[in-house]
Amino acid sequence: MPVITMSSPKGGAGKTTSLAVLATQLAKTARVAIIDADKNHPIVTWSEQPGFPENIEVISDITEENFWDRLDDAARRVPFVLIDPEGTANVISSHAISAADLVVIPLQASQLDADQAQRAIRQVANQERSSRRKIATRILFTKTSTAIQTRTLKHLKAELAEAGVACFETQLVDREAFRAMFSFGGTLELLDSRQVSSPEKAVANARAFAAEVLQVLKGQERERTT
Ligand SMILES: Nc1ncnc2c1ncn2[C@@H]1O[C@H](COP(=O)(O)OP(=O)(O)O)[C@@H](O)[C@H]1O
Ligand SMILES: [Mg+2]
Repeated sequence: MPVITMSSPKGGAGKTTSLAVLATQLAKTARVAIIDADKNHPIVTWSEQPGFPENIEVISDITEENFWDRLDDAARRVPFVLIDPEGTANVISSHAISAADLVVIPLQASQLDADQAQRAIRQVANQERSSRRKIATRILFTKTSTAIQTRTLKHLKAELAEAGVACFETQLVDREAFRAMFSFGGTLELLDSRQVSSPEKAVANARAFAAEVLQVLKGQERERTT
């Protein structure tokens, strides 16, 4: 029942998109619950369109008071729970971090966004102190260009490595298909090349991201049992 939380105090970092991409990949083989804690409910809107996977359930009636009940209930029933908090640091986003087996911090490759990531990392560190346990955290570079790495990206990676923060190898590339999922509904696999260009590249990117998430979770499982 791993709980995966997308976290970033910055709106537009790619939390909801990355979560949806991950959810649809995991849902190919397992049931997934998404806790949509954003007041605008972007995941609910997406789920109401055609093609939404039957394996994914969306829980949206989340308050500070019922958060832990809703989470425990979902975690009992399904193998993966994914949490999409609002883009501001609030009580629910703190709960979502302290509940997580893995926190994913989406980050665009600009120095301004990196400052926001530092805030997100500090938020995780605070939850680690209050829950007195280590919380696995990974930065996910999002909306990156398909071209060779920009100098800013290289610089940011070096900076993060120095601060001891791990990044996913996989980056979620800037692709029309990741936006189109929300406008057409359903999964990346349902998009065809008349709707967006190279949907298969987005699918390959999504698979690599999900595989890496599973690898991190497996590593944790091994650590727990040895
Ligand atoms: N990998 C990506 N490729 C293309 N567009 C993206 C990608 N990730 C996010 N976006 C777009 O960027 C905007 C913000 O993303 P979103 O996932 O809503 O961020 P957040 O949930 O952090 O506010 C949206 O318009 C979304 O479609
Ligand atoms: Mg969002």
